[in-house]
Amino acid sequence: MNGKRALVIGSGGGIGAALVHQLAASGQFDRIYAGNRRLRAAHHSKVTRLTIDILDDDTLADASRQIAQDGALDLLIVATGLLHRGTDIRPEKSLRQLEASVMAEVFAVNSIGPALVAKHFLPLLARRQRGVAIFLSARVGSIADNRLGGWHSYRASKAALNALVRCFAIELGRSNPEAIVAALHPGTVDTPLSEPFQARVAESTLFSADKSAMHILAVIDQLSPMDSGGFFGWDGRPIPY
Ligand SMILES: NC(=O)c1ccc[n+]([C@@H]2O[C@H](COP(=O)([O-])OP(=O)(O)OC[C@H]3O[C@@H](n4cnc5c(N)ncnc54)[C@H](OP(=O)(O)O)[C@@H]3O)[C@@H](O)[C@H]2O)c1
Repeated sequence: MNGKRALVIGSGGGIGAALVHQLAASGQFDRIYAGNRRLRAAHHSKVTRLTIDILDDDTLADASRQIAQDGALDLLIVATGLLHRGTDIRPEKSLRQLEASVMAEVFAVNSIGPALVAKHFLPLLARRQRGVAIFLSARVGSIADNRLGGWHSYRASKAALNALVRCFAIELGRSNPEAIVAALHPGTVDTPLSEPFQARVAESTLFSADKSAMHILAVIDQLSPMDSGGFFGWDGRPIPY
């Protein structure tokens, strides 16, 4: 036990839940805060569940105050995201399908919410020592790597997230040169988010949530302050913005 603390937001999602489970089992952290919109009972003595809606400043402020009472955070992972929802939200295949309300909601969850998380929780990262904040992004948010088009709102909202991550890394680096803020693509992962789109994904390239979480934690271990502001794949290789 070394008193380290981690916070995973989006802990009810496929990858977020696997991350909480693995962090609790790793023995590297004394306390894991698991933030999700619906409060659930904690199933591990090291896990504290918090109600967090990333679009609700009040829930973010309350959770931030609660964590700050215990001390600094060593690791923050933002594992929230929105690609589709029922029949209301589907990734666009063409310009004709663009709808302002859908775009606004996808940008709210994928870009604005994580920015509010940064506002409330980056100040809690440990000072003068290694503190890591990871925002789960998506390779399709890379502008340089976009050869297929489509999925306009999701791609653009992740590109916006990547731009914000770079801004936050620069700002935080001024007060804490040991801080690492990065965007990370978790791979194609078997979760509710990817479920409708898995038909054309080869089995060998579709990770389980546990496997993806394992990769993410391995990449986090390897990151150094020189990597802050970067965008990385599940294998630790940089992805161009
Ligand atoms: N799965 C993939 O293949 C894949 C590929 C590339 C990138 N990613 C990225 O990886 C991240 C995790 O994805 P996943 O596959 O684990 O998706 P998931 O299973 O659908 O989980 C997404 C999570 O986001 C949470 N969320 C949405 N809006 C929220 C809000 N306003 N406040 C708090 N939580 C909110 C959901 O919470 P509720 O449980 O409360 O609904 C859910 O827990 C996302 O950023 C996604 O874009 C995933």
